[in-house]
Amino acid sequence: MTIAVLGATGMVGSRVTAEAGARGHRVLALSRKPGSANPNVTPIAVDAEDAQALREALGTADAVVVSVRTDPVDEEFLVGTTRSVLDAAARLGIRVLVVGGAGALRSPDSQDLLVADNPAYVPSELKRIAAAGIAQLRSCQTRAEADWVYLSPPALLEPGDRTGRYRRGTDTLLTGPDGRSWISAEDLAVAVVDEIETSGAERHITVVHSV
Ligand SMILES: NC(=O)c1ccc[n+]([C@@H]2O[C@H](COP(=O)([O-])OP(=O)(O)OC[C@H]3O[C@@H](n4cnc5c(N)ncnc54)[C@H](OP(=O)(O)O)[C@@H]3O)[C@@H](O)[C@H]2O)c1
Repeated sequence: MTIAVLGATGMVGSRVTAEAGARGHRVLALSRKPGSANPNVTPIAVDAEDAQALREALGTADAVVVSVRTDPVDEEFLVGTTRSVLDAAARLGIRVLVVGGAGALRSPDSQDLLVADNPAYVPSELKRIAAAGIAQLRSCQTRAEADWVYLSPPALLEPGDRTGRYRRGTDTLLTGPDGRSWISAEDLAVAVVDEIETSGAERHITVVHSV
């Protein structure tokens, strides 16, 4: 397959790019300042705010992973970029996987409470980031005609080891065998490429580390 990764230089995007390339997929590595020495990876410089450039960059892809963010968080950018990708992908007939936020998940102990609104997971200083992730999911949900899946990471996502193992769930935050809601970015990337290769029926999924 040819898989485009928007945000290919980021913590998540670089691992998705490496995982997909290692499986023999051709990767279009999209970001403003891309670069790669992997022969399976084609770096393409594109600013996500340029919808036409984005459309052109996605032209030969079979699927696209959206894995962008800004610091500080910019909800308008996140939602606008997601919409541009969904619109282009719908026209091209390709699948979209959005790596979003844990805040959009339901709390494990209280299904009516989103993680974003649960102080046990999201302190007040991170609420704007969590809210942007929810807005990003809502922007997907308004595009019923597009083929998308929104992957919420667990509460903690950081660089680590690739074990190749994870547990998959749907719209409720998962915890692992040690009680922690955590996964390495490497194993999240395994889940991302698995989901692209063999798509499930659910539109909102999550994953957590496993033994
Ligand atoms: N627990 C959680 O819920 C959790 C934890 C971590 C991350 N996440 C989510 O995972 C996703 C990826 O996060 P990350 O940590 O990998 O982010 P990151 O390391 O900050 O990388 C962000 C990527 O976005 C690209 N980017 C930013 N602005 C762009 C623009 N205008 N045009 C094109 N590319 C642009 C950057 O590349 P350039 O600068 O080269 O353009 C970079 O590749 C985000 O949705 C984030 O919210 C969730």
